[in-house]
Amino acid sequence: MKKTIKFSTWIKFILVILIVLGIGGFIGYKYYQDYLYKQTNEYKLLELGYTQEEVKLFLDKLEDDQETNLIERTNELEENGYREFLPYFFKCDYFLYDKLDLYLDEVITKKKDFFKYKEPSTYNFDKLVSIVNSHANEEPYTSTRKSDISKGVAMIANKHYQLGDYAPDDLVAIPWKYRFGGANDKIELRQEAYDAYIEMWEAANQEEEIYLLALSGYRSKVEQEKEYNYYKDLRGEAYADTIAARPGWSEHQTGLAIDIYSKECSSATTFKDSKTYKWLVDNSYKYGYILRYTEGDEDITGYHYESWHYRYIGKELAKKVHESKLTYDEYYAFYLDK
Ligand code: DAL
Ligand code: ZN
Repeated sequence: MKKTIKFSTWIKFILVILIVLGIGGFIGYKYYQDYLYKQTNEYKLLELGYTQEEVKLFLDKLEDDQETNLIERTNELEENGYREFLPYFFKCDYFLYDKLDLYLDEVITKKKDFFKYKEPSTYNFDKLVSIVNSHANEEPYTSTRKSDISKGVAMIANKHYQLGDYAPDDLVAIPWKYRFGGANDKIELRQEAYDAYIEMWEAANQEEEIYLLALSGYRSKVEQEKEYNYYKDLRGEAYADTIAARPGWSEHQTGLAIDIYSKECSSATTFKDSKTYKWLVDNSYKYGYILRYTEGDEDITGYHYESWHYRYIGKELAKKVHESKLTYDEYYAFYLDK
């Protein structure tokens, strides 16, 4: 006799099937989510023993391929005693992952005794990052790195980027009214820097009755050699290297640097206390000029503080550099040296 299954039994049966499928699906979905999470760099970094805070730092600063690289390198970093320094570097505003080995070398190899005397937490990692970024940890005047002329007025010249025989082709002589020297003396700048200097001169004159006077502008490699040798003969190479660039390495050779004093004050010693200096520090960036060798940054710029030396980099960039409060060496290394 054919038994008929009651309709309500069917319903129950289907419900049980649906519940089983639902639970199964939920568990499967959870497993799948878990599987996916385990593929993430966050999971892999946590598995390697980094703290939540460290992992957040890494993920905020790194591109995907850099995260993978850090994961692959962690054991090696651990073995070399480098791993504990990672968070200190990652916290630095101008940290560049591509330079990680250089930072670590600098802090550990070259200064290997340092941490015997000082806790890492008290060490100035920001400064170290800036020094490495701008190549200031390298022996001065030994690099074959060339100034990138294609950067135009943003090109850099310092003890780690050389100009070789570069000479600009749009030099303009500054008229007597705006400079020191006799009527026949010649102080030149590149056209764009010249136009900006005259504009700045007029503004300083109108606003504060300041009469800016240029003492030096473009210097050829040969002229720079005379300048450098003058100081070298006076007090030796070490002294000369703090105040004059070696030939082929001076910003003056770009035609974009100018030494400025004023009618009111033309002393290298007291210019920093003058009204003109104050005006220049507050306003020169509006005309595309930045103070280049700032006080307290000698270990990065490579030169003594020079209150008279200004560098034209264009108005837009000068504003950014001024606001960043970085030396141009640091700014260039972090933002422009691509
Ligand atoms: N006085 C600067 C550093 C130069 O000679 O270029
Ligand atoms: Zn100068």
